[in-house]
Amino acid sequence: ARSIDLAVIPGDGIGPEVVSQGLKVLTAVLPQDVKLESKEYDFGAGRWHATGETLPDEELEQLRQHDAILLGAVGDPSVPSGVLERGLLLKLRFAFDHFVNLRPSKLFPNTATPLAGRPDIDFVVVREGTEGPYTGNGGSLRTGTPAEVATEVSVNTAYGVERVVRDAYERAQARPRKKLTLVHKNNVLVHAGSLWTRVFERVGQEYPDVTTDYLHVDAATIFLVNDPARFDVIVTDNLFGDIITDLAAAVTGGIGLAASGNVNPTGAFPSMFEPVHGSAPDIAGSGKADPTATILSVALLLRHLGLDAEATRVEEAVTADLSARDGAAPRSTDAIGDAIAARVAG
Ligand code: NAD
Ligand code: IPM
Ligand code: MN
Repeated sequence: ARSIDLAVIPGDGIGPEVVSQGLKVLTAVLPQDVKLESKEYDFGAGRWHATGETLPDEELEQLRQHDAILLGAVGDPSVPSGVLERGLLLKLRFAFDHFVNLRPSKLFPNTATPLAGRPDIDFVVVREGTEGPYTGNGGSLRTGTPAEVATEVSVNTAYGVERVVRDAYERAQARPRKKLTLVHKNNVLVHAGSLWTRVFERVGQEYPDVTTDYLHVDAATIFLVNDPARFDVIVTDNLFGDIITDLAAAVTGGIGLAASGNVNPTGAFPSMFEPVHGSAPDIAGSGKADPTATILSVALLLRHLGLDAEATRVEEAVTADLSARDGAAPRSTDAIGDAIAARVAG
């Protein structure tokens, strides 16, 4: 019998609300012979206020023992910006070497998008997850004075760029359209941009079936809005990938539907699955949070663990749920979770 040993980090704001729906669907979709064990970790604003801890090393070690991690969201207005985002979320991505941040975008049926009626939108952003301006390399001089200087250095290594570019080529090769777009800003960020461009071209020689192109990130935002069907696989750096995937979510059905996986493809560490969105303090506690992004992240988790049929059942249930809904009537977080859980079970 197969089994899943899952770590669950509900986190802050709407995180616990959407994670409970994700677990509801996970439980409903798993066949009898797959045993689910899960352990919840209480990281986030509450823990930080109570103990000053974000992610102690002993618990990082415990997390490492799980097959995968499901995370809701972290960040809270009562905690200084960056403390939880860096100390918890980025610490996990870096410690578990989640160099492939996978963010698929599909145009979902029956959603409020400027692109309704364009069913051909189906692309995936392969966002680098361990480098770029996220490494914390930089500093502040003369802080708080008129002469303050703040730097945030983008770190790009040949090793780090090559492994994510190669992963993106593999994914493009496996898709029907076999197209890969590099998104960067090599007209201005000439050092990092040159490294990315050279690696992209060199590795591309090993994938002659894959069609490639390049877009500056600013132009990419134009096409994401007015011609997103042109994209198949996009590979880009950590910060550009963060920004364009919120945009991609907004144009393909809404941030409440956007799923992601922080993947370590080598299997050396557990991969972590989470919605693209954050803790949404503006709607926390109101029952308005859409759990679909978390439920679709559960589908990515299932596929990562080799449970392809179950992953597909979840994705199909989401599509059916969206098709069936009355677009005008808002549903609660719980109602959406119940509806999708009923579909995967039935
Ligand atoms: P956000 O994604 O939390 O919210 C942006 C907007 O989208 C808000 O209006 C929110 O109500 C809406 N929204 C988000 N998720 C939704 C859902 N499931 N259903 C319906 N509406 C939804 O981004 P933000 O406001 O910039 O950040 C809030 C906090 O979350 C900050 O502390 C930020 O650092 C953190 N954050 C965490 C993650 C993460 O844990 N992965 C991601 C992004 C932001
Ligand atoms: C995301 C978030 C995070 C990121 C923050 C909260 C660190 O915006 O997962 O998209 O920038 O990666
Ligand atoms: Mn983001």
